Amino acid sequence: MHTPPKMDLARLPTPLQCLKRFSTQHNLPRIWFKRDDLTDTNASGNKLRKLEFTIGQAVADGATVLITAGGVQSNHARATAIIAAQLGLKSHLILRGLPGDPADGNQLIDELVGAATTFIKPSRDVDEVFNELSEQYRAAGETPYCIPIGASDEVGLWGYINAVEELMQDFELQNIMPEYLFSATGSGGTAGGLILGKAMHNLKTEILSINVCDDEAYFVSKIRADFRLWQSRYGNNLDVETLPINIIDGYVGPGYGKATPDVFQMIGDLARTEGIILDPVYTGKAFHGMIEELKKGHYSDARDIVFLHTGGIFGLFPQREQLMKYAVSR
Ligand SMILES: Cc1ncc(COP(=O)(O)O)c(C=O)c1O
Repeated sequence: MHTPPKMDLARLPTPLQCLKRFSTQHNLPRIWFKRDDLTDTNASGNKLRKLEFTIGQAVADGATVLITAGGVQSNHARATAIIAAQLGLKSHLILRGLPGDPADGNQLIDELVGAATTFIKPSRDVDEVFNELSEQYRAAGETPYCIPIGASDEVGLWGYINAVEELMQDFELQNIMPEYLFSATGSGGTAGGLILGKAMHNLKTEILSINVCDDEAYFVSKIRADFRLWQSRYGNNLDVETLPINIIDGYVGPGYGKATPDVFQMIGDLARTEGIILDPVYTGKAFHGMIEELKKGHYSDARDIVFLHTGGIFGLFPQREQLMKYAVSR
C-alpha cells in the first residue's frame, strides 16, 4: 500500500490533556482533550494534518497555485493560504457568502497573507468555479492544484489515519483506553480518517462525530464515497463498505456557523474552568453536543472520553457580540 508524499507542516505530536476540573464539576467521566488546536499558532487546527498530505501531493505535482474553497470564515481556507505563503506559492480561495466589511477573523488573515479571493453565492456550484479558475491560471502559465472543501478527499484522509497512531501512543503514555472519541464534523475528512485509522491500527476506542452542518445521511454517504476513492487510489483490503460511520445528528442548531446561546455559554464555562478556547462554528457546537449526550445518560459505560479539539479560534472574533452577551461573565 503506498501513501501520498507528506510535508511536515504541523507541530506534532499535539498534547493530550485531562480536563480534571471540568469533568469533576459536571460529574462526568474523565474528559481528555487532544489539542489539535495546537498544530500551529497561525495555521492551527485539524486542517494542518490533512494539508501535510494534500499540499505534499500538490508540491509533488509541481503546483504553483493552491485553489481551495469554504465559507467566508473557513479555517481550512485560512490554513491553506498561510501554508501557501510559507512555501512561496500563490493561493486562491473560493469563499461562499458575502465578504465581511471590514474583513475579520479568518478572512482578515487570508487577506494578510495575500490570498486571492472569489466570493460566490452559496447556491453557486463550487466545482464550476474551481474549473474556471484553474483554466485562467493555466492560461497564465501557472500550475493550479485544486484542494476540495476541508481537504476532505482520499488524499486528506491520511492526516487523521496517521493521527490514530499518535493517539494510541498518547493512550499508552497515560495508561488509558478511552471508550469514545468525539469530534466536530464539517466536511467529513477528520471523521473518515479516524475511522480508517481505527480499523487499520485496531484501536478499540469508538469514533463518534457530531455534525455541525448538513445531516447524518449526507455525512455517511460522503465519508463512504471518500473511503471508496481512497481504496481505489491507495489499495487496501479493508472492507470499507461495512466500517461503521457514527454521526450524532441533532446539534446543528439554527444552521452552519450559527450557534444557540447554550453553545456560547459552554464556550465561556470551559474557558473559565480550563483556560481552553472553543469556537461557535465547530468545536463549541460539538463539545456542547457531546456534553448533552453524556447528560442524557448515553455512553454511561465510559471511564475516559476524548474530545478532539480541532481548532477554529479565529472564528470567534466575527461572533464577538454573541460571545459578549452569552459567554463573557461580568
Ligand atoms: C475548527 C474545525 N473543526 C472541525 C472541522 C471539521 O472537520 P472536517 O471538515 O474534517 O469534518 C473543521 C472544518 O470543517 C474546522 O475548521
